[in-house]
Amino acid sequence: MALTALQRAEAAEHAMSQELDRIVVKSVLFTSGERDPRQPMPRPADDGRPYMMGPDPRLARMPDRPTLFDFFKYRFGPANHMLQSARLAVKNGVGEKVVLACLLHDIAIAGFIRSDHGYWAAQLLEPYVDEEVSWAIRYHQALRFFPDESVGYGYPELYVKLFGPNYQTEPYIQDAYRYARAHKWYMTARLLTVNDLYSFDPNTKVELEEFTDIVGRNFKQPKEGLGFDGSPSAHMWRTMIAPTKYL
Ligand SMILES: [Fe+2]
Ligand SMILES: [Fe+2]
Repeated sequence: MALTALQRAEAAEHAMSQELDRIVVKSVLFTSGERDPRQPMPRPADDGRPYMMGPDPRLARMPDRPTLFDFFKYRFGPANHMLQSARLAVKNGVGEKVVLACLLHDIAIAGFIRSDHGYWAAQLLEPYVDEEVSWAIRYHQALRFFPDESVGYGYPELYVKLFGPNYQTEPYIQDAYRYARAHKWYMTARLLTVNDLYSFDPNTKVELEEFTDIVGRNFKQPKEGLGFDGSPSAHMWRTMIAPTKYL
């Protein structure tokens, strides 16, 4: 019987996890949808190996005191989209807060959880950036769906392609839009959407180091490293460091 793509992927993954000296049990969130979360998670056979309780050897090892840039290097895919948005923001002459917001706005998609990405990113960043920056990142998710002719922002063509021509935003997104529209920081979030490039050139490579100074001035890098400073979002950074930890 021919295997489905999912079965093949699972078989390959099984073979790979057999080679590890730890048993890996995935978080429900990683498989929800592919599997029905009302059913018990299938577990690898308990064959006497200890369970994964530390860094996953399949992932790049992170420094003991990771910086924001370490997360970009080891956990945030090629972050070209954010880097190019930040470069565009610099070119457009907006302030450093907007540039930083552009540089960080999609980190949840890049390395954490895609669904409600603006909210997750804001929460990850709140202890380390000016409130206005995390606020703009939280609300860019909603504002992206709503045009603002005053700054030449239209509904993204890409969204028509991605979500279909008749896509309607959910009520909580409409509420978030109305709230943000009337807020004193509206323009900060709006400028983020203006510089949020949705068609970008895959051949233009922007280096992280271009933003060393802006990050240095505007991101409060904890000396213990992100994940180990006891901040309200430290556990979220630790989860990105070791996403397969058993507990
Ligand atoms: Fe986004
Ligand atoms: Fe984006």
